[in-house]
Amino acid sequence: MGRITLKIEEEKKVYDITIGHNLLCDVNKLFDLDRKVLIIADDNIPSDYIASVKTKCKSSTTLTLPHGEENKNFENYQKIIKTLIDNSFTRKDAVIAIGGGMIGDMSAFAASTYMRGMDFYNIPTTLLSQVDSSIGGKTAIDFMNVKNIIGTFSQPKGVLIDVDTLKTLPKREFNSGLVEAVKIASTFDKSFFDFIKSCDDIVENIEKIITRSLELKKMVVENDEKEKGLRKVLNFGHTIGHAIEEVKGYKLLHGECVGIGMLYFTNENVKSILKDILEKFNLPTTCNYDKEKVIELIKHDKKSAGSTIATIHVNEIGNYEIVNMTIDEISKLL
Ligand code: GLY
Repeated sequence: MGRITLKIEEEKKVYDITIGHNLLCDVNKLFDLDRKVLIIADDNIPSDYIASVKTKCKSSTTLTLPHGEENKNFENYQKIIKTLIDNSFTRKDAVIAIGGGMIGDMSAFAASTYMRGMDFYNIPTTLLSQVDSSIGGKTAIDFMNVKNIIGTFSQPKGVLIDVDTLKTLPKREFNSGLVEAVKIASTFDKSFFDFIKSCDDIVENIEKIITRSLELKKMVVENDEKEKGLRKVLNFGHTIGHAIEEVKGYKLLHGECVGIGMLYFTNENVKSILKDILEKFNLPTTCNYDKEKVIELIKHDKKSAGSTIATIHVNEIGNYEIVNMTIDEISKLL
């Protein structure tokens, strides 16, 4: 079992991210469950994961929501708030999300806004959320076809990563999750990148890959919680990737789109290295999409500030450059 402690000095916030095997049955040792708990899961989550948490709670309510990014919306946000009100939850109670980034982001957003904020614990069960979205405090829902347009920065109270939950994850989703590890390795840590590239048994080494990804992300978030500078680097591949994801109606997975999106912001040498690693994990390196629609969505990207968008370029593995680009300049890359 490993533990990473993330500290946001400014807000005096400290929380543990615990990573290991068979941790679900220890949830009560890691989270304060001596109060009312709302467990939120998606309808793909095996019922025994929910039951393991439920049996450790003194008093719990369970809300199951439909899976899929298209459900990270106002309607489901309202369902969470309504459940909290109907069951007389107070600010002293807690929400636990069990699932992927969609359920984590939306539950965290609901917890951060209900009564101006209550405790939120995250149990990410997809690789994508385990290596990236479950830590760092970004919460959100999508609205009017714009991803993550309504949200807050609100750090969780604790994160439990039970790598055994990955055993039930479909291979395609597992591979899509690896892209976020490749992303952070390619921007910050060449030896970690080389490890992933040459690793013959990713499943066997997954705890190590999750832990290193989160150590790097912790360093970024502790330096720049609110994405004023360094945290923008975590958007490598996302500017075009998010737009493709939406234009394709979420038929391509998030990691698949981010992988394609990274290839636009590299030189030929790095592009070929990244293509090789994407192909190693059976991930797409290109797809057809409506260019006009992609550009329209990029214009709405929340990361756009004024006339330019901060884009992340990797021209050497382990290093990045932040380049402010106009929409016209990005358009020429497509
Ligand atoms: N997923 C990117 C970030 O947390 O900033």
